[in-house]
Amino acid sequence: MTAPGDARPAVRQETRGDVLVLIIDNPPVNASSQAVRAGVLAGIERLREHDGLAGAVLVGARGSFIAGSDISEFDGVVPDPLLPAVIAAIETCPRPVVAALDGLALGGGLELALGCDARLATPQAVVGLPEVTLGMVPGAGGTQRLPRLTGRAAALDLIVSGRRVGAAEARRLGIVDDVVDDDVVEAAVTLARTIGKRRVGDLPMPPEDEAAYDAFEKAATAALRRTVGAAGEAAELVRTAGTRPLTQALLDERARFDRLRTSPEAAALRHVFFAERAAPRRGGVRPAVQPVTRAGVVGAGAMGVGIAVALATHGASVHLIDRDPAQAERALGQARDLVARAARRGRLDTEAAERASRSLSASAAIADLGGSQLVVEAVFEDPDVKAAVLRSAQEVVPRAVLATNTSYLGVGRLAETLDDPTRLVGLHFFAPAHVMRLVEVVAGERTAPEAVALALRAVRDMEKCAVLAGDSEGFIGNRVFAVYRRHVEYLLEDGALPAEVDAALEGFGFAMGPFAVADLSGLQIAQSLRRRWRATDRLPARYVDIPDELCDRGRLGRRTGAGYYTYAEDGTRSVAAEVTELVLSESRRKGIARQALDRGTIVTRAVAAMAVEGARAVAAGVAAHCDDVDVAMVNGFGFPRHRGGPMWWARQQDPDEFAAAVRAVTEAAHEDDLSELVAEVLRRA
Ligand code: 3HC
Repeated sequence: MTAPGDARPAVRQETRGDVLVLIIDNPPVNASSQAVRAGVLAGIERLREHDGLAGAVLVGARGSFIAGSDISEFDGVVPDPLLPAVIAAIETCPRPVVAALDGLALGGGLELALGCDARLATPQAVVGLPEVTLGMVPGAGGTQRLPRLTGRAAALDLIVSGRRVGAAEARRLGIVDDVVDDDVVEAAVTLARTIGKRRVGDLPMPPEDEAAYDAFEKAATAALRRTVGAAGEAAELVRTAGTRPLTQALLDERARFDRLRTSPEAAALRHVFFAERAAPRRGGVRPAVQPVTRAGVVGAGAMGVGIAVALATHGASVHLIDRDPAQAERALGQARDLVARAARRGRLDTEAAERASRSLSASAAIADLGGSQLVVEAVFEDPDVKAAVLRSAQEVVPRAVLATNTSYLGVGRLAETLDDPTRLVGLHFFAPAHVMRLVEVVAGERTAPEAVALALRAVRDMEKCAVLAGDSEGFIGNRVFAVYRRHVEYLLEDGALPAEVDAALEGFGFAMGPFAVADLSGLQIAQSLRRRWRATDRLPARYVDIPDELCDRGRLGRRTGAGYYTYAEDGTRSVAAEVTELVLSESRRKGIARQALDRGTIVTRAVAAMAVEGARAVAAGVAAHCDDVDVAMVNGFGFPRHRGGPMWWARQQDPDEFAAAVRAVTEAAHEDDLSELVAEVLRRA
């Protein structure tokens, strides 16, 4: 069996004495495609039919077992043979099959291994069931076989979180039988000769304390159940594991898998998965081959600290600079606290946390940056301050790539203040920088490809999502977000109240509605943007005065206890009669007849506004592709991942209804109709 368009077989058969070795070879990550499944099945048929064979070993080529089923097959009918049929063939084959795991065994890959009679792993093996993060449940026995090895609580944890575990933990949990330091294939061959059939599905469920399990299940699913139904369905499958015949449970699991896999949420999640991988490649520059091992961050405020932590927890030594020595010292403490917190929350193992802590240092002397390959400035958003910092850094690190963490300032213009403008690249992080995945990578007119390559490498190593953005105010994300925010303000004047807008968008899947977000960030931030618009005569055609009025009244957001909402000591928000009165009076003052706006209308107006601005960004070349807008909004602005991003959402709407929504958006903004431009951009996607 060969992969389509490829002369190499997706599964090679070799024999080592009387053991058949099936080598899965489907680049780049050994996804389990039709060709792989057919190849494994053919091997198992041979094992069944040849009396001279004692058993078989399944192994992946090039350091990976199977990184999961081929997700690109999930949009339509998955071609035969299906994975459950392959696993059934292994289970009913009278001779044993051993999985030799090296590298990734994820999703269907782990399920295939669980269908084998034993599993051996190298120390580099990583296992996991990430289906829920793709809006599905495991579809080939994962919810039934894993709990028989680990108990239900551990299985539920792995399935609902999608967490990947290394070989040592997999051994401790009982997922693999042993970890083998040297030749895992040879060890598996030996084992295949000696063991009998040991079907995981025949094992009894390990005993469990029901009350403790109930509590665990509640906690494990609470956060995810709100947005993606898959977590709840996976929990039901795990809960009932062992209480009914395996065949029945497997059919139920597969039926749910098929239903969920074809759901709009799963399609959106797959879209985001592929879009995130495509986004860094748009400019045709590959990430640098060498990683950044030594970096500097100038400006030790919250952003600088977050960037330093993101770099240090991913293998770089990082020196933080602040011109105030006391602040540099404080920032170092804060950075180490963040590392320790990541370790406490299980996001970092103890050893990695200690290494990261040790690799952080701080001072007030810019000369201490010497030897850095990358220096990121994260000082105050003022072009003169930034230019001064970068100019002093260029002397100390004559060969390093310099990066500016700016949200609005032009990278090209800043680069012109340097001796060598080709060294400067924009790296726009989002707060908190050690958590948020989005980084906009901005090349100025003269930025060298090598600088972009190093930036892409650093972003990848930090496990963040790079989106290449044009050097234009607000880049992609802030540009789209600013328009969204403006449109939700129009909704206030047109008939909605802040709590209604927030409830509608939280119902859509945003963790927080736009007014709650505004209060959290502080209203003075947007005010400074509005002042800049006013100073440069760029106020939008329709301008809403409500946020300015709130600022004037000292309602600056959560930190002041009042903004769009009023806040109690514990942070809970409540509707403020004063704000309701302000909103109503602003409509009156402008002669706007308020209309009742239902949740659907609010969502359509707000998300269509994002899509319109996204289309403008694409048309202007600021975003290279619609999908980049989606990646930016999902990873930087809390757009619900299972809705795929504003451009994906727009593409799922009825075209006539969406065109009407675009007209409503542009009318609300007192702008010309853009429905044709938007439709054209979406057609090209
Ligand atoms: N199906 C199809 N393509 C896949 C894939 C998959 N499961 N996993 C990765 N790829 C592709 C990527 O799209 C990318 O393709 P490209 O080069 O053409 O853009 C290429 O493989 C390399 O992937 P990455 O850029 O992500 O490489 P990394 O080395 O950074 O990461 C990875 C590799 C950890 C395997 C990561 O790609 C990943 O997490 N993949 C998804 C794993 C997963 O979720 N598997 C479960 C699938 S669902 C399932 O198995 C259902 C079952 O229950 C029946």
